[in-house]
Amino acid sequence: MKPLRIALTKGRLEKSTVELFEKIGLNCESLREKGRKLILPVGDGSLEAVLAKAPDVITYVEQGVCDLGVVGKDTIMEQGSRFFEILDLGFGRCAFALAVPKGVNFFEGYRGKTVASKYPNVARRFFEGRGMDVRIIKIEGSVELAPLLGLADGIVDIVETGVTLRENGLEVAERIAGVSARLIVNAASMKLRKKEIETLAGQLETVVKGETGK
Ligand code: PRP
Repeated sequence: MKPLRIALTKGRLEKSTVELFEKIGLNCESLREKGRKLILPVGDGSLEAVLAKAPDVITYVEQGVCDLGVVGKDTIMEQGSRFFEILDLGFGRCAFALAVPKGVNFFEGYRGKTVASKYPNVARRFFEGRGMDVRIIKIEGSVELAPLLGLADGIVDIVETGVTLRENGLEVAERIAGVSARLIVNAASMKLRKKEIETLAGQLETVVKGETGK
């Protein structure tokens, strides 16, 4: 049978995923010494990894060209989920938050507010839930710049250690949601390759539960 294909988010999550795979006994030599190759065999050949940017991981899994994916809940919340999310992998922990210049009360006053974010859908839903009409501006990276430049009153962004906010005179006004890496599965693959997927997910879950004590 052809290998199960899993799309991994390049970068920080990739490293933690490789460590997790090795803990369940998968040989990850090709992922550790990958060079510029983008499709890599993992373990005994029953698994094949694809390296991609987070939004593309979701696209590949939704379209069924990858059976599984490892991607952050932040990207899932932003892009929606037309797939199964079957396991919280416990790493890549951070949170969505509304952050503002230190000492400013974002919720005060009647003036219309502007918020910059790399995650406009998450931001829109958050303010809709509050019954607030806030203008959202999409920024691709280093969103912290927007309030510093006077473009926005605040940002909706990922906070991990809080160092970026602190070093730029910003602070969390409100925590919106927790984020961590998730194992996602294409809907058809979940039916057609149920046994293999459940075996892999079960092994990963055992290690994750052992580590997080859940
Ligand atoms: C993320 C996020 C913050 C930073 C938070 O950016 O957008 O800027 O990390 O981390 P901290 O709380 O530990 O300081 P990332 O490094 O992913 O790059 P980006 O700005 O290009 O999105």
